[in-house]
Amino acid sequence: MNETNLLEIRGATKLYGGVAAVTDISFNVQRGEILGLIGPNGAGKTTLVNMISGTAVPTRGTIKFKDEVLNGKKPHIIGKMGIARTFQVVKPFQNLTVLENVAVGAMFGKGGVKRSSAQAFKRGEEVLQFVHLENYRHDLSESLSIAGRKRLELAKGLAMDPEILLLDEVMAGLRGTEVDEAMDLIRAIHNYGITLLVIEHVMKVIVGVCQRVVVLDYGKKIAEGTPAEVTSEPAVIQAYLGKRYVANQAQGLTQEQSPLE
Ligand SMILES: Nc1ncnc2c1ncn2[C@@H]1O[C@H](COP(=O)(O)OP(=O)(O)OP(=O)(O)O)[C@@H](O)[C@H]1O
Ligand SMILES: [Mg+2]
Repeated sequence: MNETNLLEIRGATKLYGGVAAVTDISFNVQRGEILGLIGPNGAGKTTLVNMISGTAVPTRGTIKFKDEVLNGKKPHIIGKMGIARTFQVVKPFQNLTVLENVAVGAMFGKGGVKRSSAQAFKRGEEVLQFVHLENYRHDLSESLSIAGRKRLELAKGLAMDPEILLLDEVMAGLRGTEVDEAMDLIRAIHNYGITLLVIEHVMKVIVGVCQRVVVLDYGKKIAEGTPAEVTSEPAVIQAYLGKRYVANQAQGLTQEQSPLE
């Protein structure tokens, strides 16, 4: 086994009818890193996370976690192996409290195998403290703000005690200091020893927390490298801004700042 690679994605492809959501994507996630996954809307980021977490089965290619092939495994099995994810469209159990939602995560993840329900609630309390939601623990999850629901998604994933946590836009809809707080939280999770795959549109976040970045466009991988490397790649700038912007920039016709900076 390659000790440094926690996840190995090889030729991953997902077709929906005639539509290729993801085409022939390969990359590794190394143990202990924070890897960013970026790309314009519809690039295939969520589909890739769906394939890793078992909510979608690859049409072609293989996805391995610690040398074990994940293709065809059910999400709850993959969760127990040590992979947790958040959902872009948050999915709390509406009629459960915040704490109950997190306790469910604590029962079903890698750490859940040997936990009683009392221990799951205890773990839930700890995680809620970690994400600063402890004051809301007895509220119904549907009463939370958007920022609160995003934190709850994070807490549910963390409560599973994953080795790798896949974050699908946990900062969408957050503003100003909320983004800074969420970045601190990601760093704290990383310091805790958890490997992270972070999907985020806010480039400040990617540059601020990721060591490496993979860029997708129209279902294909178009770049991979450090944040500085990928944000200076013409193909990446073009994917975000269109061909005309790149042509204009080459001719010095615009002073407009790249949104990738
Ligand atoms: N279940 C599905 N059935 C059919 N098409 C799908 C399905 N899921 C995704 N797609 C299509 O696959 C492509 C990639 O979608 P995906 O949601 O993975 O993109 P994304 O990079 O996460 O986008 P966003 O930034 O908007 O979240 C899109 O064209 C989308 O319409
Ligand atoms: Mg998405």
